[in-house]
Amino acid sequence: MKIAVVGATGLVGTEMMKMLETLHQNHSFTVIAAASERSVGKMIPFLQQQVEVCSVEKAIAQKPEFAIFSAGGSVSEKYAPQFAANGTTVVDNSSAWRMKPEIPLIVPEINASILNKTHKIIANPNCSTIQMVMALHPLHQKYGIRRLVIATYQSVSGTGVKAVNQLFGERQGAQPERAYPYPIDLNVLPHGGSFLDNGYTTEEEKLVNETRKILNDYDIAVTATVVRVPVVGGHSEAVNVELRHEFELLDVRKLLEEAKGIVVQDDPKNNIYPMPIYAHHKNEVFVGRIRRDDSQLNALNLWIVADNLRKGAATNAVQIVEYLIDNQIF
Ligand code: A2P
Repeated sequence: MKIAVVGATGLVGTEMMKMLETLHQNHSFTVIAAASERSVGKMIPFLQQQVEVCSVEKAIAQKPEFAIFSAGGSVSEKYAPQFAANGTTVVDNSSAWRMKPEIPLIVPEINASILNKTHKIIANPNCSTIQMVMALHPLHQKYGIRRLVIATYQSVSGTGVKAVNQLFGERQGAQPERAYPYPIDLNVLPHGGSFLDNGYTTEEEKLVNETRKILNDYDIAVTATVVRVPVVGGHSEAVNVELRHEFELLDVRKLLEEAKGIVVQDDPKNNIYPMPIYAHHKNEVFVGRIRRDDSQLNALNLWIVADNLRKGAATNAVQIVEYLIDNQIF
């Protein structure tokens, strides 16, 4: 079996290579690392070896069983159909395919069971959406979600290498090339992606649309404010959840504790709550500050943190591939 990573030299691609090393413990395959022409011939590590980076065309020609993409929307739009036409199943981390009705948008713990062999392009959701729906899904199944009010505190690695370099450059007193219109060190930017005519941003719109699609419930009302903060890795979210039915806080906590992939860190009297510095480099989603919202019937507040490059991107994508292999769907 062959698995290609398109964008293998990037921030998410590097994490994908690491997650494939873990997958390799139980499954046998070779890795094809593809990136732009700039990187062709470069060597990147996989297990104890070095893999030579090839062009996307060369990767397509090798007809891998799977191709995992994280090279931006235009690369996905151009090459995912070419892989698919050659029989490869594509798991795409860009936003290019996510909202197309015929393309499944998958978080394995929630909706992998909808996948079948006809799905040759599968979309990996946005990082902020994945970690949020992981925590919401068990509550939605039992109590039904009526409305979500979200504020995110997103790290700069979600924007890419240029943004990480901007943060560290500014911290060292330099004037680095900017990924954002303003300084990010010692600042917060209420601006994720680009602005739409309605005053919201593309990142806010993703939280609305992708949440409804993954939970398969278009009646859920969602409103979001996305904020970029001077954190390197790990997104945090304050989420106000209004449920359709009465709930017990202890039961909510139990549902979260029992959910696969979730770690409850909620002992505020002992200063135990999720934080991005501890979620960084981990594959789980961390939930804390679980408390009733007394201002609204059947409502509660959650604080949700995860590594945006791991469960928010690479981990989720590789878990989709693992599900497809385990269930022979390719
Ligand atoms: P390269 O390193 O050769 O530029 P990030 O999001 O961290 O910036 O990473 C983007 C990834 O997408 C990199 O691996 C980058 O490769 C890759 N990439 C960018 N443009 C292309 C392209 N036109 N074809 C293939 N890969 C691309």
